[in-house]
Amino acid sequence: MSTVLPPHYLNAHRQAAEQPEHFWAEHAAALDWHRPWQQVLDASDAPFYRWFAGAECNICHNALDRHVAAGRGAQAALIYDSPVTGQQRRYSYQQLLDEVARCAGALQQRGVQVGDRVVIYMPMVPEAVIAMLACARIGAVHSVVFGGFAAPELAKRIDDATPTLIISASCGIEPGRTLAYHPLLEQALALSSHQPRHCLILQREQLRAELKPGRDLDWHTEVSTAAPVACVPVPATAPLYVLYTSGTTGKPKGVVRDHGGHAVALHYSMETVYNTAPGEVFWAASDVGWVVGHSYIVYAPLLRGCTTLLYEGKPVGTPDAAAFWRVIAEHRVNTFFTAPTALRAIKKEDPDGALARHHDLSSLRALYLAGERSDADTVHWAEQLLQVPVVDHWWQTELGWPAIANCQGLAPLPVKAGSSSVPVPGFQLAVLDQDGQPLPPGEIGQLALKLPLPPGTLSTLWHNEDGYRSGYLERFPGYYQTGDAGYVDADGYAWVMSRIDDIINVAGHRLSTGAMEEVVAGHSDVAECAVIGVADALKGQLPLGLVVLKAGVQRSPADICAEVVAQVRNQIGAVASLKSVLVVERLPKTRSGKVLRATLRAIADGQPYQVPATIDDPRTLEELAPLLRPG
Ligand code: COA
Ligand code: AMP
Repeated sequence: MSTVLPPHYLNAHRQAAEQPEHFWAEHAAALDWHRPWQQVLDASDAPFYRWFAGAECNICHNALDRHVAAGRGAQAALIYDSPVTGQQRRYSYQQLLDEVARCAGALQQRGVQVGDRVVIYMPMVPEAVIAMLACARIGAVHSVVFGGFAAPELAKRIDDATPTLIISASCGIEPGRTLAYHPLLEQALALSSHQPRHCLILQREQLRAELKPGRDLDWHTEVSTAAPVACVPVPATAPLYVLYTSGTTGKPKGVVRDHGGHAVALHYSMETVYNTAPGEVFWAASDVGWVVGHSYIVYAPLLRGCTTLLYEGKPVGTPDAAAFWRVIAEHRVNTFFTAPTALRAIKKEDPDGALARHHDLSSLRALYLAGERSDADTVHWAEQLLQVPVVDHWWQTELGWPAIANCQGLAPLPVKAGSSSVPVPGFQLAVLDQDGQPLPPGEIGQLALKLPLPPGTLSTLWHNEDGYRSGYLERFPGYYQTGDAGYVDADGYAWVMSRIDDIINVAGHRLSTGAMEEVVAGHSDVAECAVIGVADALKGQLPLGLVVLKAGVQRSPADICAEVVAQVRNQIGAVASLKSVLVVERLPKTRSGKVLRATLRAIADGQPYQVPATIDDPRTLEELAPLLRPG
């Protein structure tokens, strides 16, 4: 690594790499443990590693009880700000602890035991956070499903996680429409073979659900009458949650995170990456259904004794492009985290940032961006407007916390717009060629992380250890394969360029084109199809479907395209954002029959491309290129 990086950073990085047990044991000391570990790192089952083996702890205790015991009970733990309902609510640490302890009691009363799964399908309401912490409190494993997914996606997750209980709400609220969640849940349960014992439903006044007697329980009744319960100490290596994320096929991957290592890593990141102090206000404008929400709305800010902000709204349209600035000013936010796409949406409506100038943003110390590549324009726009460091950082659902960042709490580095900066201590980044050999600075290759990964990263895939091995560990023995390509420059800065697989990033949401292809191919008139991600100025990427119709189909192509769009929306969810579908004569393929997706993508993005030597019939590309080229 470069010598231009400050010694303070280099020392921390070296120490974490060379003496990981010593390094992480020191950071673990900041938290409470019911029983100390026997081994900091258990490598006996490598390449599967376990952190803090033999220890007992509970992440909920560390996020709530520990702070109340230390006198932080009156401080705000959670501020709920919901422009879509016009509501705001504040919970002190003591109040949040009381609610969580009662919710945990309600779950226990309904038979949820240590290790049982609880699926949470909720909008951005405080009860979603309470439900997650309540599961953790009793050692149950939560699995939160993002509200923008449709019933079949929810059903897949129910069947994989086999929950004892499902927690949901009567509705979610998107700008201009109220989404009835309960019918979606019904539909999902009709599709899934697994059935939970009960569904605990939060009735929202905007749209009440008709509860099914026997199966459905009313949140308010159950939680208000339940007796509070204490934290159950669990092994540090016990699963805390399963979070499903898109893979290259229609089957989502259940990322498993543990209690102990996760708590240690998140707490460390709040100091080192985000430079926060207890008592400060931290706002991650994401959704609890994504990893950013899990880590930086729920667990990390609370572990650090910060006030976390839960925002039920959008960057624009709720009511306008000043929404973020209003929230920062009103709640004196110190640290703000969002996706570049949200800033681009604001910039589009308010290019000069005039609306921001009506708000007192003096509390803000830094803005963090992740979820997709940060374009230099957006970074510079935000820097000029906010006059604070704008920090791009890179990570993934699997990793759970930032792996490449400009660590503001360790040694802030000069920003290079477009680079996520340097590997965070604990992560050893390598750029590998096709043979797994490290590449020199400046050369693009696959980004990989040397094993063992630090605490807080995935311990395995839910009931799919082989999938973890084959999907991440086998390609480059001794490394975790990230699925991203990029390079490290001569100064040691990492530049993440693109995915190497069929995952695309739409408005900061990770989606699988493979999953969309499975749905499109299911249309009765479609013979074959390809879905590719095409560059989009606002959302980063948007999916584009190309379909070849079955011989003899006489129906209007426009009707078929509209049906395909509706089918993806109904089966995956509105969040898939597949709105463009083209009917084509044939798809360009290699002689072995593989669709040339990368070439199609390059054409659609207006990038230079070469006709691959393996192409079956070059005329297919010549026919398609004019249809695909931007504009
Ligand atoms: N529940 C139900 N539907 C949802 C949803 C949810 N939680 N979230 C999004 N959707 C729907 C939207 O209503 C939209 O529906 P539509 O096609 O009928 O308009 C569709 O899914 C696509 O949503 P989205 O991609 O978010 O586009 P948008 O036009 O509504 O908003 C942005 C664009 C940029 C404002 C928005 O995507 C955004 O704020 N992105 C930031 C994302 C983020 O924070 N990601 C987390 C990583 S840090
Ligand atoms: P998710 O699992 O949803 O967090 O998505 C992870 C993927 O998003 C990564 O593998 C990258 O492809 C992309 N990504 C996340 N953060 C960044 C970033 N800062 N720069 C570039 N790509 C990013």
